[in-house]
Amino acid sequence: MTQPRHILAIDQGTTSTRCIVFDAQARACATSQREFAQHYPQAGWVEHDPEDIWRDTLETAREAIAQSGLGAAAIAGIGITNQRETVVIWNRETGRPIHNAIVWQDRRTAAACQALKDQGVEDMVRSRTGLLLDPYFSGTKVAWLLDNVPGARADAEAGRLAMGTIDCFLLWRLTGGAVHATDITNASRTLLFDIHRQQWDEELCQLLRVPMAILPQVTDNSGIFGHTAPDLFDAQIPIAGLVGDQQAALFGQACFERGMAKSTYGTGCFMLLNTGETAPVSRNRLLTTPAYRLNGKTTYALEGSIFVAGAAIKWLRDGLGIITHARETNDMATQVPDSHGVYMVPAFVGLGAPHWDPDARGAIYGLTLGATPAHLARAALEAVAYQSWDLLEAMARDSGAAPAAMRVDGGMTANDWLCQFLADMLQVPVERPENLETTALGAAFHAGLATGVWSGLDDLSRTWRGRDVQQPAMPAERRAPLIAGWRDALRRTLTHPA
Ligand code: G3P
Repeated sequence: MTQPRHILAIDQGTTSTRCIVFDAQARACATSQREFAQHYPQAGWVEHDPEDIWRDTLETAREAIAQSGLGAAAIAGIGITNQRETVVIWNRETGRPIHNAIVWQDRRTAAACQALKDQGVEDMVRSRTGLLLDPYFSGTKVAWLLDNVPGARADAEAGRLAMGTIDCFLLWRLTGGAVHATDITNASRTLLFDIHRQQWDEELCQLLRVPMAILPQVTDNSGIFGHTAPDLFDAQIPIAGLVGDQQAALFGQACFERGMAKSTYGTGCFMLLNTGETAPVSRNRLLTTPAYRLNGKTTYALEGSIFVAGAAIKWLRDGLGIITHARETNDMATQVPDSHGVYMVPAFVGLGAPHWDPDARGAIYGLTLGATPAHLARAALEAVAYQSWDLLEAMARDSGAAPAAMRVDGGMTANDWLCQFLADMLQVPVERPENLETTALGAAFHAGLATGVWSGLDDLSRTWRGRDVQQPAMPAERRAPLIAGWRDALRRTLTHPA
């Protein structure tokens, strides 16, 4: 039999799970996707049922393989990428989760984070992890689960429980419980991992009250991490790539050189700038994060994390009911010459970088009787671009210069108007790849490197195909008042304005 040359990418995101089969030219040949239920047990809380995630992963993987017309034996490897920070704890014996997963957007540990800040440990945490004390990250969520699920803390200390981000949970399930491991990009989002020494940090575990017995082994992004259990597919497939979704998108966008940047517009928006082998400390409240580790060598990135991008459009559809499909916002935004003075600050789950205000909540300003659904839709899209501008500005201040271009991807970037407005606000060319699903592609790249489908980064770079480039075109005198209006709306929304 000829050597398998296809890769199955599992992209387990915040609102949907999708599986894509890629060929050796990095072209998607089959896709299967499912949206799954979001649970909001209290205001500011967000949970997922891990069994939903597992069921959808398995079904979409089987469907994508079937649709590709290939058998499982023709798949060289599986690459897993995932919503980061979302955390599950399960029983090692039964395999059952002890509670729903607590999602990255969940704010229930805001007070716990504040208490840690009050102890004066944020600088220490920051210097070791590259993160800030915010409920976004997994560590305080793990402590919450151990404190609130009866018996969990004792079971954890006795080694009966395992914790993991979604990559780790899926790897464990796919290998039939044989492998408990996560990769460096996911480990680095827990607040428990020292990104410089590249190991779990005992002192941080003590500070956050997380027993080390529940932590997974930490791996490179590319390698053979295990094989699928015999009963899952009609052949046992190596699992060869593990990577958090935003780092996957950076990799899928072939941003391998220091100074290259990408911004992904999914549920949230995450901008990452490759900083090479150095892990710079941000002076502007951005995160420092491993971008990938290959053969033990780590490349780092500066990251700006915005919690709500596509989620605001989902809210226009599901919450307000003023659209029936996200793609309508493209036409709505172009129906009107401007937002009619309407600004939306989408702090539905607080604000992330560079403000880090977990208590802020969403707001709409400037409503007059002339405001229409089109103005609201436009304001929601504009907010995505204004927030991206906040990140780029912080990044430029940290690194001394803005990147020469911004590679964008994710569902929202199918919107032409938004991409042009982004270029106008960011004042750098906005480059769209042919394949907007670069997150899945990044996971496939890692798995393909481990299984010999691709030989190295140069080989991967050659597969990157640009679709178009939007150049900044808005005159400064039009742009400046728009940004000033955004700044004003933001100032009114922050609970601790600077
Ligand atoms: O850090 C959260 C991020 O990984 C979620 O990504 O694509 O679901 O918005 P996404």
